[in-house]
Amino acid sequence: MAMGIHGLLGGLSGLLLLLCALPWTQGGKVLVFPMEGSHWLSMRTIVRELHTRGHETVVLAPDVSVYIKEEDFFTLKTYAVPYTKEEYEYHLLSSLQMFFKNEFSVMMILSNMELMKNVSTFYVSCCMSLLHNKGFIQHLNSSSFDVLLTDPAYPCGALLAKYLQVPAVFFLRFIPYDSDFEAAQCPSPFSYVPRLFTRNLDHMSFLERVKNILYPLPFKLIFHFAFIPYEQLASELFQREVSFLEIIGHASIWLFRFDFVFDYPRPIMPNMFFVGGINCVSRKLLSQVCIGPSSKEWSSNISFHVWL
Ligand SMILES: *[C@@H]1O[C@H](CO)[C@@H](O)[C@H](O)[C@H]1NC(C)=O
Ligand SMILES: *[C@@H]1O[C@H](CO)[C@@H](O)[C@H](O)[C@H]1NC(C)=O
Repeated sequence: MAMGIHGLLGGLSGLLLLLCALPWTQGGKVLVFPMEGSHWLSMRTIVRELHTRGHETVVLAPDVSVYIKEEDFFTLKTYAVPYTKEEYEYHLLSSLQMFFKNEFSVMMILSNMELMKNVSTFYVSCCMSLLHNKGFIQHLNSSSFDVLLTDPAYPCGALLAKYLQVPAVFFLRFIPYDSDFEAAQCPSPFSYVPRLFTRNLDHMSFLERVKNILYPLPFKLIFHFAFIPYEQLASELFQREVSFLEIIGHASIWLFRFDFVFDYPRPIMPNMFFVGGINCVSRKLLSQVCIGPSSKEWSSNISFHVWL
């Protein structure tokens, strides 16, 4: 018993010493690699808060960026991309329109394959021109950032963090085909975690479970092709085979822009946090609220629009 208390006291004083020796995280240097479009709007809220709390934030954006503009609460650093402003805007808007105009489904993706391919090529070439820009990378490397905040829906930020050997904080809705949970080695049983857009509930019949298993497969295949260029780019940078899951697995912290109001309970890892409320920071009063008998439909539509 006495030994136990001694051990406990020893442990506590060790912990206290450790705490004293730790540098305060106040005033850290944060590199932010956002994704354009609506994704930036919620990330901007975080960047402003980081600034308020005394952190130095540097936001990276293409030199022809449409939405990410200079503001007084961060330093904007731009990199060259092989597009004119018009081309950049065209590619960006065409991808956003595809997702907003159509319901997300395999058919939607298949009938927009050419567009998807164009969009994917667009993002990859922006990423390549950043990572191949030796002078700029050297400059970022010598700035010794403490952490990189990124939205891994555009995996370039994750790859940049890994390349610079900086811990990454992911701020995301999801990465297609469950690769987020797979990369974090988080259990995600098909038997009761309904897959996105299946409209399954957490209680499923046998057939619904079968659907839960089969439904993501075509997405998995399609998005696999979209992610291959990042694997190639990473393999070239690191001079060895690097899988997409390894790039995404670089995350130290996962901040998910959802919560269990819209999504069903599921197992999560200790480094996963829910910050869905952040989408409601700039709120307006609803003029009319309509929750009809098909509230499940309503909620899945809402969550579809919130996922961006
Ligand atoms: C895809 O890109 C090609 C070449 O830039 C272009 O001709 C074609 O119209 C684009 N397709 C779509 C659907 O945007
Ligand atoms: C960053 O700098 C370190 C130390 O000088 C170096 O070892 C590393 O290779 C550099 N990383 C990149 C991506 O340039």
